Order: sequence, then structure tokens, then C-alpha cells
Amino acid sequence: MTSHLGPGTGFARERQRDLCAPADRPRPDRMRQQAGFLPAASSRLGSVGDFLGVAVPARPSDPPPDPVATSALIRAEADPAAGDRAVITRDRAVYEPLRLREAEADFSRRYPGFDPDGALAELRRLDYARLDEGGHIYLDYTGGGLHAASQIDAHAELMRARVLGNPHSNSPASLASTELMERARAVVREFFNAPPDDYLCVFTANASAALRLVGESYRFGLGSTFALTADNHNSVNGIREFARRKGAEVVYVLVTAPELRLDRAAMSGVLRAAETGVRNLLAFPAQSNFSGVQHPLDLVGEAHAAGWDVLVDAAAFAPTNRFDVAKVRPDFATLSFYKIMGFPTGLGCLLMRRDRLGVLSRPWFAGGTVTVASVAGGGHYLRRDEAAFEDGTVDYLNLPAVTTGLAHIGRAGLDAIHRRAGCLTGWLLDALDGLRHQGGRRLVQIHGPRTTVERGGTVTFSMHDPDGRPIDDLRVEELANQVNISLRTGCFCNPGAAEAAHQLGAEHMRKWFGRGEPVSYLELRDRIRREHGQFPSAIRISVGVATNFADAYRFLCFLQGFVDRSVAEINQPAFAASPAMASA
Ligand SMILES: Cc1ncc(COP(=O)(O)O)c(C=O)c1O
Repeated sequence: MTSHLGPGTGFARERQRDLCAPADRPRPDRMRQQAGFLPAASSRLGSVGDFLGVAVPARPSDPPPDPVATSALIRAEADPAAGDRAVITRDRAVYEPLRLREAEADFSRRYPGFDPDGALAELRRLDYARLDEGGHIYLDYTGGGLHAASQIDAHAELMRARVLGNPHSNSPASLASTELMERARAVVREFFNAPPDDYLCVFTANASAALRLVGESYRFGLGSTFALTADNHNSVNGIREFARRKGAEVVYVLVTAPELRLDRAAMSGVLRAAETGVRNLLAFPAQSNFSGVQHPLDLVGEAHAAGWDVLVDAAAFAPTNRFDVAKVRPDFATLSFYKIMGFPTGLGCLLMRRDRLGVLSRPWFAGGTVTVASVAGGGHYLRRDEAAFEDGTVDYLNLPAVTTGLAHIGRAGLDAIHRRAGCLTGWLLDALDGLRHQGGRRLVQIHGPRTTVERGGTVTFSMHDPDGRPIDDLRVEELANQVNISLRTGCFCNPGAAEAAHQLGAEHMRKWFGRGEPVSYLELRDRIRREHGQFPSAIRISVGVATNFADAYRFLCFLQGFVDRSVAEINQPAFAASPAMASA
């Protein structure tokens, strides 16, 4: 396996330093005993809605705890031929609210690097208090980060104190804005270790706008190749439309289930096969927003050696990993700030090597992008710095919040956030994988790596009932909403990873395109479900700066309500309308 560059890439690196790895990773059966989880027979949660309440007594049909069965189980595990279904039959982990403190103590023992000095716990209590005040379990950091209350205070204070005008002039108000804008630029470069001599930092509305800037301006031509991983956000996929229009070939390099990692040999083949003497662009995400996979950043060097330009989409990677631009050396890197620190929204950036300016040719000019433009003369000169790409007026009142937001993350410590996310992800992966129905069938099928090696804190999965029937992710979302859990369902604007996860190939997907009338997502989803027997969508949870163990554990309590329940039961309105859920 190729290794990553940069200090914060992959939780595996942390594991080597023993920071977020389980202190003593026990065997699954021992682990459950240490966690103090009850045998399934001794108590049972009534429904998903009971996750905030108290476990109901065992049903009369539940078998009593049986020490003989337990030893049979351990014997089964010793026999490799027995398979995991034999192992888990009775000794199932059970998550219930009353066991939270006990489970947390066990978690702290197993992951001593989680929050060693309690600083992040304190941060959660003070700066993200609204989560606990509102009883909110927020598990969508890949969708958007959460802002700290102190970020808002600092920004409000600045807005109250300063007179700030449009930066495109020389008035005191304008110069004050320009100064704050340039300070933000310097802070961003420093945060990502992008030396000013080497890299431009172009402010955009978001990562998508940064990606579009590259796509629409890149000098694709006849004979060029645009290569990209099948695992990409649609805002990267969309660049293929610019490439095709300019006559370039578009090549996808596949990712393979269940880990959803890149086929590296195929990628190397594509890089070697491209024509020389034309511009070729490779685009991939440093971290998948679907599976959490961290694609190997040393691809940048390999592509450069083969004469390619490289665009690294760092949007999902940057919030919990150190993205070291000077080490990775991408030609272009894109991100959105709200994913890192919640506030401000509406701002992202394109980090671009200065010497790559020549490979972009802007298709137009706008206010602020030119040195001069003339109507009578019919010409214009684009500027030779960031301003050439910042169309019109940048969001100058919110740019200072980028400075305060990154300072906040700096104080919290990106490495500490990275460790924390790694520990929680490790625990979640083990716990999700261990949820079993009677009979041993898994409740959860993880799409992506099952360990923290070369992956981030985004975990995507599907759920199945005891008979293996798929549970509708939209129903899971509906039930989660009722108990104030924020998660994400669907394909997360990453159709390539979803198709790989669900084994949907060209033979399944081509027929949906080229029609006169657009196909709606729900229609597509429904038809694929009927034809393929699976939903083409999934459930995604992701952790971040403010996630604590209680969030992760309570989420498992929520999922516990699905254990041993059939799809028919889950889909009944009463399942959602249980009293505990209504009061949550
Ligand atoms: C990996 C990745 N790239 C790009 C984007 C697009 O970001 P935005 O919607 O902020 O433009 C996202 C958003 O989720 C993402 O996860």
C-alpha cells in the first residue's frame, strides 16, 4: 500500500505513534465483555425511539443468559471454519443509554490519545454548548462543520467596531477591507503551508466555484486527457463537461468495493498512456466524501513525473487532517471554509501554483480581474495575481471570519482534532460492524475501509434486516430526525463511489441518460431498488471538532433499535411514533 505524504494524513500514521490506536486492541468477544455490554438476552430495547429512554424488559421469547452457549461461542471463534455468523449468535453487543458512562470509561482506556488533557471536552462544553442544550447529535461534519460561539463573538465585535467598504478603491474604508482580506489570505497560506512565493490563494464562493475556475480555464485541447477517480464529488465530475467541449478525452479510474480504494495499477497505466506535448489534468479527492478513503497523495508526484497537472480536492480532507501544500505540491487544490470551521459559509479557496498561471486561460473578464479593459479599444489585460480569478466583489465582510475561524482551529489544535476523529472513527467502525441480528447477520454494511488505516472520519453504510432485506435510508433519516440526530443519506453528490459500493455498472446506469425528460432522483432510486434489489443510496455519519464519545454512543443506541426488526416493522408509522420518540 502506498503511503501518504503530510503529517496528518490517515489515522494509521497516528496509530504508529500510538496516539489514537486502541491501547490494547482486544479480540471482539473480549472487547464486548470489557465494554460491559449486556448479552442480548438480558435486556432489549423496545424500538429506535427508546434510545433516549430506558430499556424495556426482555420479551418472554428471549432466551435466558446461557453460560454453555457462551463457551460454545468462544469455541466457534477458535474454529476458523465456523465463520463469523457462528461466533456472534448470542454474544451481541447491546447499546443502551444507561451504559453510556461505563462504555465511555472503557473507550477512554482503549483510546488514551482521545482527549488526554480534556481540552477538547472543555471546548465542547463552552464553545459548542448549543449541541447539548438542544439535545442535538450532530454527525454531518463532512456536510458542514460547526462554528464555535467564540468565532461568532469575535466576528460580531469586528463588525461592530470597523468601518469597512468595497475593497476595490482607495478610501480608508476600502483600504481597511483590503488589509483584512490580505490578512485572511496570509493566514490561509500559513494554515496550509502554501508559501506565498509559490502559491496563489484565490478566494471563491466555495470549493465548487474553485473547481469550476480550474475546469473552465484549463487549456484542454484535442489529444488532452482529463483523468479522475470514479470517487469524486460532482463538482469535480462536472469538469468533464468543459474537457469534452474542448475535445479532451475523459478517463475514469475505478475504485473497488468493499474498501472503495483506487485501483492504483490502473491509475498508473492511465498516467503513462497519455499523450505528451498536450495538457493533461488529473483530479482526485484527498479524502472521499462518500467512504472516508484517503487517496494516496503521492499520486501527485507520480502524475507530475509523467507530465500531468494535478488538481487535489481537499474539501473533505482539510477539516480533520493537515493538508500540507508545500509537501503535496498540487498544481491546484480546492476547499470550502465552512467545512473546516462552520463559519463563514460562502467562502472557499483555490490554492494554485504561481507557475501554473499559464495553463489557465480565463474565458471572460469581470470587474476587479483586469489591469485595464477598454470598450473603444476592444481589449483587456488580466491581472497576474489572485485578483484575475476573483470576479467582482469578494465577500469582504466575511473574509475576516476566515482569519478568526482558522485561528480557532489552530488553538484547538488540528493534530488534536485529527486524533480525536481517528479515535471516534475507530470505535464507530468496530461498533457498527459488531451490531448483529439474532442469527448473526450484520445490521450494518460499511461501504469503505473497516479500519482507520488511510481513511478519515466519514463512515458510510447501508442497513439490512434479519432476513437481509435492505432498510430504506430515507426511513432511517426520518427516524433519526425525530430524535434530533443529524446525519446524511443519499449518494452525497458522489455518484461514482455510490455506484461502486452498490455494484452498479454502465449496464445499469447508461439507460437512464440521453432522455428528453430529466429523470428525478426518487424515480431513479425506486427503479434501481426494484431492478437491483438494493437502494443505490446509503447513510453517512461523520465526526469533527466537537464530536464527543456520547454522540457516537447515542448514535449506536439509536441503531440498536433496528436490531432484530424486520423492514415491515420499521416502515410502520407506529415505529416512528413511539412515545419516547415523540418526546425526544
Ligand atoms: C470532497 C468534496 N468536494 C467538493 C465539495 C463541494 O463543496 P461545496 O458544496 O462547498 O462547493 C464537497 C462538498 O461536500 C466535498 O465533500
